[in-house]
Amino acid sequence: MSILETSNLSYAYNNTTTVFENINVNFKTGKMYAILGPSGCGKTTLLSLLGGLDSPNNGEIFFNGEDISQKGLAYHRKHNVAFIFQSYNLIDYMTPAENVTLTSNASPLPILERLGLTKEEAKRNVLKLSGGQQQRVAIARALASDAKIILADEPTGNLDENTAEEIGNILKETAHEFLRCVIIVTHSHSLAKQADVVLKLEQGKIQIFENPMLEL
Ligand SMILES: Nc1ncnc2c1ncn2[C@@H]1O[C@H](COP(=O)(O)OP(=O)(O)OP(=O)(O)O)[C@@H](O)[C@H]1O
Ligand SMILES: [Mg+2]
Repeated sequence: MSILETSNLSYAYNNTTTVFENINVNFKTGKMYAILGPSGCGKTTLLSLLGGLDSPNNGEIFFNGEDISQKGLAYHRKHNVAFIFQSYNLIDYMTPAENVTLTSNASPLPILERLGLTKEEAKRNVLKLSGGQQQRVAIARALASDAKIILADEPTGNLDENTAEEIGNILKETAHEFLRCVIIVTHSHSLAKQADVVLKLEQGKIQIFENPMLEL
């Protein structure tokens, strides 16, 4: 069964300017999805609806078969989703370990080490880490939260190609081994090729590619 599903999802700013209409997609745990599309096509808007940051003008979003507006968007944001951003959005006067502890009671060190930080790095101020290391901390924080859905808006946008590939691999592991549903918005075709499913958003419509390595 899908963990997250949209039904005829439509969004228009100020109720007049349509961004997209009648989007029907479903997302499963254990898979990584990439949303591609030209600037301004509505990728961030779609992600914000999936994460309960905003409401659609029409249509519904179901989490585990239940309309997220039933329990409320605040409940959905708190319990079901974690966000990863291009600029990491860590608390910058804290260490990685402290940042991870913000979302979880679990011990932060094993998870940070699993994502490639050393014990010393896990206790350093986050501003003294590279961008790639900071993004690992953001992923660790999302993983520690237990949220089944991880939403990432251009998570490799500030990183060089090799680091971007490493972060892509970690996000994929997060989906496959930790059984989360990872949904990434990106302009990077190489990151999209690492995904299990690619969704192309263009002119308000979505196209689904189940085999991006073959089709992109
Ligand atoms: N608050 C707002 N009021 C009116 N229009 C908006 C608002 N926010 C975004 N838009 C418009 O909605 C459209 C979709 O924006 P969105 O940010 O979702 O695009 P995007 O695909 O994420 O683009 P990018 O790849 O550049 O990040 C754009 O035309 C944008 O100008
Ligand atoms: Mg965007």
